[in-house]
Amino acid sequence: MAVTVLVGVQWGDEGKGKIIDVMTEQADLVVRFQGGNNAGHTVYIGEEKFVLHLIPSGILRPDSVCVIGNGLVVNPYGLTDEIDMLEGKGIEIGDRLQLSSRAHLVFPHHLVMDGFREGKQSIGTTRRGIGPAYADKVGRTGVRAVNLTKPDVLKEKFLAQAEQYNTIFAANGVDTVDAEAEWPKLEAAAARLAPLVMDTVLTVNNARKAGQSLLFEGAQGMWLDIDYGTYPYVTSSNTTAGGACTGGGIAPRWVDHVVGVAKAYCTRVGEGPFPTELLGAAGDALREAGKEYGATTGRPRRCGWFDAVSGKYSVLVNGVDNLAITKMDVLDDMAAIKICSAYEIDGERITDMPSDTADLSKIVPVYDELPGWQSPTTHVTSWDGLPVNAQNYLRHLSELVEADIGSVSTGPERAQTFLING
Ligand code: GDP
Ligand code: IMO
Ligand code: MG
Repeated sequence: MAVTVLVGVQWGDEGKGKIIDVMTEQADLVVRFQGGNNAGHTVYIGEEKFVLHLIPSGILRPDSVCVIGNGLVVNPYGLTDEIDMLEGKGIEIGDRLQLSSRAHLVFPHHLVMDGFREGKQSIGTTRRGIGPAYADKVGRTGVRAVNLTKPDVLKEKFLAQAEQYNTIFAANGVDTVDAEAEWPKLEAAAARLAPLVMDTVLTVNNARKAGQSLLFEGAQGMWLDIDYGTYPYVTSSNTTAGGACTGGGIAPRWVDHVVGVAKAYCTRVGEGPFPTELLGAAGDALREAGKEYGATTGRPRRCGWFDAVSGKYSVLVNGVDNLAITKMDVLDDMAAIKICSAYEIDGERITDMPSDTADLSKIVPVYDELPGWQSPTTHVTSWDGLPVNAQNYLRHLSELVEADIGSVSTGPERAQTFLING
């Protein structure tokens, strides 16, 4: 496997957690490189369901070491809760989890600010304080994880930052955060997390030099990327493959493969343009068939047909050499399946994604309609076992987005995945 970066190529929730879990059977080190506990990565092991928010999904494999990279914003309470959740379910963490000393911290006042800003301009965030924490990072007023190892410095920085936020809250009629009262809880979380804090650039590169297999686990997806996504309806980090380098500590020259995960259709949660969205009964039917409710917030996801225009652009930006297509089984009952192969904007036909978000709301999708396969795929274990119409659908999708399909997933469990040509 060498060094592989795995990213979502749509609007998040593509099934990255499931594919990571399958791939980590062969990975020595799994590294998250951006985002925070806005992510929700679901893995089923038999009947047991795990939803991971900050810890790489590789933690579920007893031999994998997991790194929370410098590109993340980490809520200390979120991380301790997640460790407790895993240990409560019998997952031994021991010394298998590391936290980059350069990662930034999310505090309660970031969550309050997130909610306050949502009241002004609704992005439909997860309200986990992600935007405000990244704003502090680039504004050079953030607090880094290394301070978890230095309680006195952490206290001083935390109280000073909280005071700045409280000034804004007070001026806007928002309840302030009682930072002094909060401190003992933060101090306790810091004491628990301090042993995990280290320079993970060394972990990553020592593993690479030793010839180990490294897997970089993206969160969110291409169209939520701060640079390439449907700005401002995006998250605050680089969700695309380049983020693995800046946020995971691996130089570009060492990356061997980029796997792009995509659903066989599309979903989006939160506000913002979604060209192939199905409203009304058709969208509801897809949501129910795919059980499309947020893993982090429980919100119903917006659903629509596969969008090969945005898909092709995403393949380009990420350098995807291998697509993992998930949730094929969700389309099993459909008599006909549409795939968006072009957009029309003001009567003009285009096949590349426009960069001006204002144009996205004017898109009229052009669809190719293919016959469905109307038979179950949940027990299919090979390309040859797929119904012919399912093969034709995947071939068409692959041609439109200009990337090979490397694996197909037909259910939430580990065994419901098969490789193509593998
Ligand atoms: P992530 O954020 O990309 O890891 O995806 P989520 O976990 O938020 O959402 C994907 C959902 O689809 C989860 O509930 C998975 O268990 C489920 N899932 C993943 N792959 C498949 C599949 O092939 N078929 C079905 N039916 N469900 C799947
Ligand atoms: P995973 O890793 C889907 C969306 C939010 C909102 C926007 C900004 O599970 O695929 P934020 O809280 O990040 O400031 O919200 O981004 N969003 C996600 N949508 N999957 C995710 O993560 C998401 N993380 C954030 O709904 O539209
Ligand atoms: Mg998710």
